Amino acid sequence: MQWPEPCVFTVDLDAGRMAGPVHRYRKRLCDLQGLYADEAAFAALLAQQGQEVVYEVTDHRPSGEPGDLITGVTRMAPGKVGDEYFMTRGHMHAVADRPELYFGLKGHGLMVMESADGQTRTVEMAPQVVCYVPPLWIHRSVNTGTQDLVMLFCYPADAGQDYGIIERSNGLRTRIVDDGQGGWRIQANPGYAGRSAAQVLMLQGLLRQGGEAQP
Ligand SMILES: [Fe+2]
Repeated sequence: MQWPEPCVFTVDLDAGRMAGPVHRYRKRLCDLQGLYADEAAFAALLAQQGQEVVYEVTDHRPSGEPGDLITGVTRMAPGKVGDEYFMTRGHMHAVADRPELYFGLKGHGLMVMESADGQTRTVEMAPQVVCYVPPLWIHRSVNTGTQDLVMLFCYPADAGQDYGIIERSNGLRTRIVDDGQGGWRIQANPGYAGRSAAQVLMLQGLLRQGGEAQP
């Protein structure tokens, strides 16, 4: 019998990476067209720093089995496009009833979450803060600090990512912008289109099935 092999990883806080047998991907500014509200500011920044890595992920993917776990580290650079802080594209899990756990390691930022029916939650992330992202919540991280935001994450190996759910609603309901005093504030996204009643019902149905499985 060949048992799955335990793995040990170390986190390099300076580099914001998990070291070991990991998979890695990077998002540069030039990969994030259409994400930010201020298109002119994005174009100007793109011309200067288009190849700058905005965020990167190193993770361990032992398998794609439902009972397995993907564990990794995300690092996001500090910065803004116009007055909007650097952020990840954000997603709901493709298998939508899969949750995720984030643990703050370095820097300060936010976990912005949105339900299918447009409820929003914003959690401040900092070292030693744990954020549980429940099933069916869209999630995006935002760096509101002046240094790298580094977080450990863990989620079911079969979860996958659905980025289209944000694109189809013209972004999330809220944007995170500089408050002019070195902090942040939530700004409504005027282009937000929401989701259809049918899609909300479909996702609610997934949640009810999960709820019935509880003791
Ligand atoms: Fe996720």
